[in-house]
Amino acid sequence: MTHPTRFNLPARLLHWSMAVLILAMLFIGVAMVGSLADYGTLVALHRPLGLLILLLAILRLAHRWHRPPPPLPTDLPLWQRRAAHASHIALYGLMLAMPLVGWAMLSAGRIPVAVVGPLVLPPILPQNPMLYAWLRELHTTLAYGLFGLILAHLGAALLHGLIRQDGVFSSMAPWRSRRSAGSF
Ligand code: HEM
Ligand code: HEM
Repeated sequence: MTHPTRFNLPARLLHWSMAVLILAMLFIGVAMVGSLADYGTLVALHRPLGLLILLLAILRLAHRWHRPPPPLPTDLPLWQRRAAHASHIALYGLMLAMPLVGWAMLSAGRIPVAVVGPLVLPPILPQNPMLYAWLRELHTTLAYGLFGLILAHLGAALLHGLIRQDGVFSSMAPWRSRRSAGSF
């Protein structure tokens, strides 16, 4: 059986649309807590985009289950292989945890989780101010962790694309390269 050399089109579309959304969310979050004037507008954008990320992450994991990713190059050192797998698990974990912690935090603070128009999500935790404060801090800590992981991921992607030139970068690139010709 021949393995694909590229992530398929839905996987690439999900990867790049989620990358844009997640980076936007990190900046919206920081801008939101730093700006009194735009707080209402930014938080009204932050909630639905965060929940959209949760839905897309679930969809992406389901798709990955049915269409496993292309294998890593066989000459990749074992520690890099392990680091790649661990960082992908952590990225998926944070794509699920960030929105869930946001939702749980608002629930514990008894703040309505308004999404769009009249759609308001039910609380997933009982009201508890101590829990609210803890989850609020956790949301920030996880956001720093996510940002750090994204930087490491970017560094690894560039290492593959510019130095190793081993096909890993082109497996996720939005465009088709000569290496990936023949794969969708
Ligand atoms: C918010 C930003 C990003 C997130 C959350 C993210 C997340 C992920 C995840 C979870 C995977 C694993 C896919 C899988 O195995 O199912 C992945 C793969 C990949 N990403 Fe990203 N990504 C981001 C940005 C980027 C950027 C900016 C680049 C390139 C400059 C990039 C290049 C790649 C490449 C080349 C792969 C394939 C790596 C492999 O198969 O080991 N990503 N990304
Ligand atoms: C991937 C998804 C998410 C990311 C990356 C993200 C990121 C962030 C960041 C970076 C901050 C600023 C933290 C700080 O500087 O202290 C923040 C704050 C916040 N986030 Fe999120 N968030 C996400 C999802 C959500 C969701 C789904 C909700 C609600 C349903 C939410 C509600 C909030 C609230 C209420 C604040 C704090 C506002 C305040 O302190 O006044 N977040 N988020």
